[in-house]
Amino acid sequence: MTFADLWRELEPLGRDPGTGGYRRYSWTPADAQCRAWFTREAEKRGLTVHPDANGNLWAWWGEPRPGAVATGSHLDSVPDGGGFDGALGVVTALAAVDLLREKAFYPERSVVLVAFTEEEGARFGVPCLGSRLLTGVVDPQAARDLTDDSGITLAEAMASAGLDPALIGPDPALLDGLGAFVELHVEQGRALAPMGSAVGIAEGIWPHGRWRFDFQGRADHAGTARLADRQDPMLPYSSTVLAARQAAAEHGAVATFGKVIAEPNGTNAVPSAVRAWLDARAPDEATVEETVTTIRSASERFSQEQGVTLSVRQESYTPLVRFDKALRDRIAEVLAASGIDAPVLPTGAGHDAGVLAARLPTAMLFVRNPTGVSHSPAEHADLADCEAGVQALALVISDLAGPK
Ligand code: GLV
Ligand code: MN
Ligand code: MN
Repeated sequence: MTFADLWRELEPLGRDPGTGGYRRYSWTPADAQCRAWFTREAEKRGLTVHPDANGNLWAWWGEPRPGAVATGSHLDSVPDGGGFDGALGVVTALAAVDLLREKAFYPERSVVLVAFTEEEGARFGVPCLGSRLLTGVVDPQAARDLTDDSGITLAEAMASAGLDPALIGPDPALLDGLGAFVELHVEQGRALAPMGSAVGIAEGIWPHGRWRFDFQGRADHAGTARLADRQDPMLPYSSTVLAARQAAAEHGAVATFGKVIAEPNGTNAVPSAVRAWLDARAPDEATVEETVTTIRSASERFSQEQGVTLSVRQESYTPLVRFDKALRDRIAEVLAASGIDAPVLPTGAGHDAGVLAARLPTAMLFVRNPTGVSHSPAEHADLADCEAGVQALALVISDLAGPK
C-alpha cells in the first residue's frame, strides 16, 4: 500500500466539515476511530498491537526483543489542527514498513510502531501526556485528576474507553526494551523550503511551558454599572495579552494566549471571571523564566488596578531538549549516503520524542512544510515530500534495525 493510499484512509477521520480542521481529541469517538484505523493497518501488516496502560499503541514487527527500534508519533490534534501534525509520523511509519518489505528487508532488531496519546494536551491540558506518564515525569494521580473543559476527568475518559485508569504510570520494562526512538514530523516553521531540502533532522527542542491565569472579578450589568465601579477581569486579561507580546519581543521568546474562557460569557454583562492559558517558549530556560516573570508581574499590576484577583499556575513545563548527537550524526550519514541532504534544525514545537530523549537515544526527522503554517487547517506538506519522508525513515530503520 502506498503512502497516498494510507493517507486517503486516515484523512476524513475527525475532520470538521465546516473549518476543514481536525478535532481528534483523546478518548473521544474521533480518537477511537483513529486508534481503530491504526490497529487495523498494523494488524493487516502482521504487526502485533499491544496498547500500554497509558493508552499509547505499540505495533510490533517481530517479537518484542531488547534493543527495539521505535518509530511513530501521535494521532490526536489541537482544536482545528492540520492533518499532518502527528499523523504524518504514524502514516510514514506504516508506509516505511511496506517499503522495507518490498525491498525484502527483515529486521534483525524488533521494530515497533507507536501512536502516542494526548500529545497536544488539547483535552486535558498537559502535552505529551502519554509519553510523560510512560516515562514517569507526571504523577499518575495528578494525571487521573486532570479535567477537560466540561469537568470530565482523565480517569473517567479512560474508563469510558475501556482502560483501567488505576494502571497508568511509568513502564520501565517497556522503555528498557527500546534501543532508539525516531519520530518523523511535519516541519512546523519554514526553514527547509528556502534550503531546498525535503527532509531535515532535529537538533533539539526549545524549553516551553503552559501557565493558567485566573482573573476573578465581579459580574455586573453592562448598561448600568458605572465604569469606575466595575471589577472587570477582561481588562487586566487584555492588557496581559499585549504585555506578553511585548515581553516576548524584548526577550527573544514567543508567548501566546491561544485559549481563553470568559464566564459567564454574556454579551450584556461584565464577566465574573476570565481564565486564560499562556504558552511561552524560548531558546533557553532562563529566557522562558524571565519572559513569564515579566508577563506575570505586569498582569498582577493590571489586575490590582482593576480590583481583580489574579492567580497563576504552571500546568506543564518541558526543559530544553538536545537530541542524541551520535544518533543524529548516524542518521545524517545514512541519509547522505543515499544522496539526501538533511539540514539540522532546532524547533520551538514540543514532541513525544522530546520526552523520550531523557530516557533513550532519540532523534527526529522533519518533512518540509512549504508555508511553515501548523496548528491550523492550512498546514500542508506536498505528497512528494511525504514520500521522501517515507524513504528517509525506511533508510533509518534499515540502518538501525538491520544486520550489522
Ligand atoms: C505541540 O505541537 C506543541 O508544540 O505544542
Ligand atoms: Mn502539534
Ligand atoms: Mn505533533
